[in-house]
Amino acid sequence: MKELREGRKAHVICVGNQKGGVGKTTNCVQLAAAFTEQGKKCLIIDLDMTAGATKSLKAPTQGWNDSFDLITGPENARDAVIGNDDPDVQLPPNLHLVPGSARLRDLDQYLHEHEWIVHQDMLLGPVDQLRNYYDLIFLDTPPQSTKTTIPALKASDFVILSAMPDRLAIEALGEAIQQIITAQNGPHPDLVLLGVILCSIPKPKTRLARALIESLAQAGEIDTGVPIKFDTEISRTVVLQEATQTGQTIFQYAPGHDVAAQYLELAEEVERRIAHLSAEDYEPASEDQEDVANG
Ligand SMILES: Nc1ncnc2c1ncn2[C@@H]1O[C@H](COP(=O)(O)OP(=O)(O)OP(=O)(O)O)[C@@H](O)[C@H]1O
Ligand SMILES: [Mg+2]
Repeated sequence: MKELREGRKAHVICVGNQKGGVGKTTNCVQLAAAFTEQGKKCLIIDLDMTAGATKSLKAPTQGWNDSFDLITGPENARDAVIGNDDPDVQLPPNLHLVPGSARLRDLDQYLHEHEWIVHQDMLLGPVDQLRNYYDLIFLDTPPQSTKTTIPALKASDFVILSAMPDRLAIEALGEAIQQIITAQNGPHPDLVLLGVILCSIPKPKTRLARALIESLAQAGEIDTGVPIKFDTEISRTVVLQEATQTGQTIFQYAPGHDVAAQYLELAEEVERRIAHLSAEDYEPASEDQEDVANG
């Protein structure tokens, strides 16, 4: 990657929830795109072997360096990045990508063969190398806990959870929050839960959607005046699926759509929370989070 210039210091955000199909990838891509609309330089690292973020940006999942190379390669981490100067891949301006690929399946074997590599730390070095070039780095994580989930949390400053109204959503969120608390109590005391994005909210709101919103409202706060749920909710709309199918972000496909405005608002909220929760006197309010985790 020739075009990268140093001088930035990225916040690293893991977008998670072990439950499948809850909007992680959509939120990761559209939120990163919203930040680039606001003039920020963003990188998405796709850590899912099904490469959802990579496909939704119409980037290659084969034949290029990818997140498997980022983790295992002796090369410079920048060599795994696709930027805006690669003519074969038309990424949105200021949005760069480390693609995901099915090769991530080989991580088990790789770790088996390289027994001195500490699994949970394997993304720390590569992510740190890339921090200087971006304002924000987003890690898109797979469903289930796979070999990239824990290293992604370990390499992140913040976690954003994604949830959709669904019968099992509250239970799944509790498990995801418990995993964050476990990290905070052990290997990563500085990890900060930024909030939960509620997405694919139907209009009018269904009973399930209202129940999920209500349970999060009762779940306590991350810090004084900072509820677990982001104020901005993302509506259910087929336009997001259409945008993904054409390999465009919502800002390219339908910039005037309500949901584009929602993602811009969400980016502003995320930025305010980062400023507030990374203040020096902030300590994770794990008691409140524990209330949520325990339902
Ligand atoms: N706001 C929305 N409105 C309508 N559909 C949505 C919305 N957000 C996401 N979707 C759709 O929901 C499905 C699951 O979303 P997505 O792939 O982002 O979830 P995920 O959590 O990354 O899934 P996985 O766990 O498989 O990686 C996709 O078909 C996506 O287009
Ligand atoms: Mg996904």
